Amino acid sequence: MKHTTEVMISQAEIEQMLDKLAEQINEHYKEHKRLLMIGLLKGSVVFLSDLCRRIQGHVEIDFMSVSSYGNSMNSSRDVKVLKDVQSDIAGRDVLIVEDLIDSGNTLNKVREMLRLREPKSLAICTLLDKPERREIDVHVDFVGKTIPDEFIVGYGIDYAEQYRNLPYIAKIVPVD
Ligand code: PRP
Ligand code: MN
Ligand code: MG
Repeated sequence: MKHTTEVMISQAEIEQMLDKLAEQINEHYKEHKRLLMIGLLKGSVVFLSDLCRRIQGHVEIDFMSVSSYGNSMNSSRDVKVLKDVQSDIAGRDVLIVEDLIDSGNTLNKVREMLRLREPKSLAICTLLDKPERREIDVHVDFVGKTIPDEFIVGYGIDYAEQYRNLPYIAKIVPVD
């Protein structure tokens, strides 16, 4: 698709979102020890690296890679684990870190998978949320910003693997 990009969330605004999220997370976990932040590859990498540097106390990071694909038996989507976390999460305070919630399928499956391993607590933080696109209801504990259903890229988010390196969030605008 021939397209151009247009800034939607500037670097300065992202910084403000990070500060606000970190404040909420630090407040929420102030009594807790050894917080484990789990990023979902690849989209969350940029966000997780900026967010974790604003979290106080003992913090560990880990990663999971999942892919979702259509299920022909019903209209839902299956989520397959391509790379699991290395940490034993039983008894731990776990915060899943995502760049974007769209249909909710990815986070719904990941949350359920991790919940079965009996962490002490399990919460979700997403930088961006597109509620209009939701197919499955997922409880999200920390949201950076709710956005309309636009095609976005940057700050970790890709279009055909491109644009993850943009320091801001941009909208894809088709050109003819
Ligand atoms: C994107 C995004 C979220 C997921 C959200 O990841 O980073 O992880 O889709 O969609 P959902 O709510 O409909 O499940 P993608 O699968 O494109 O992988 P990537 O992070 O490697 O780009
Ligand atoms: Mn992703
Ligand atoms: Mg992607």
